Amino acid sequence: TIESTLVLLKPDAVKRKLCGEIISRFERRGLDISALKLVRLTRDVAAKHYEEHQDKPFYPALLEFITSGPVMAIVVTGPHAVSIVRKMMGATNPAEAQPGTIRGDYATTMDNNIVHGSDSVVSAKREIAIYFTVGEVYG
Ligand code: CMP
Repeated sequence: TIESTLVLLKPDAVKRKLCGEIISRFERRGLDISALKLVRLTRDVAAKHYEEHQDKPFYPALLEFITSGPVMAIVVTGPHAVSIVRKMMGATNPAEAQPGTIRGDYATTMDNNIVHGSDSVVSAKREIAIYFTVGEVYG
């Protein structure tokens, strides 16, 4: 089944100039880039994206970090894109992420973990709509 997932390259990825390297991984895997933009999240947009985490202890720091600079929002599309992208990202906690995964290669801490990917097809639909209009998504 062809799926689309939302990937965010977080402010740390943009600052460290890792966007091209990470996009290359998705392309080499055979996935399509269906939409892409650089955007600085307002607190409102960040709160919408992370609404499921609003009661978590890490929520204030998460919002501070994700709004600290531009992020690259990407729609990645292909067979089983949601689970394939999550495997490519590695564990949310970079300390547990395998080498060869994005977090396992570039991150050390949970707060600055480089990348976000939707956790299900349902989440992906909701998250894609936060960043892109229907007309901005190709393929
Ligand atoms: P992400 O996939 O963007 O979803 C929520 C983010 O919260 C997560 O990646 C981490 O960057 C951040 N975070 C910080 N602390 C934690 C934690 N203890 N558990 C889960 N996510 C955390």
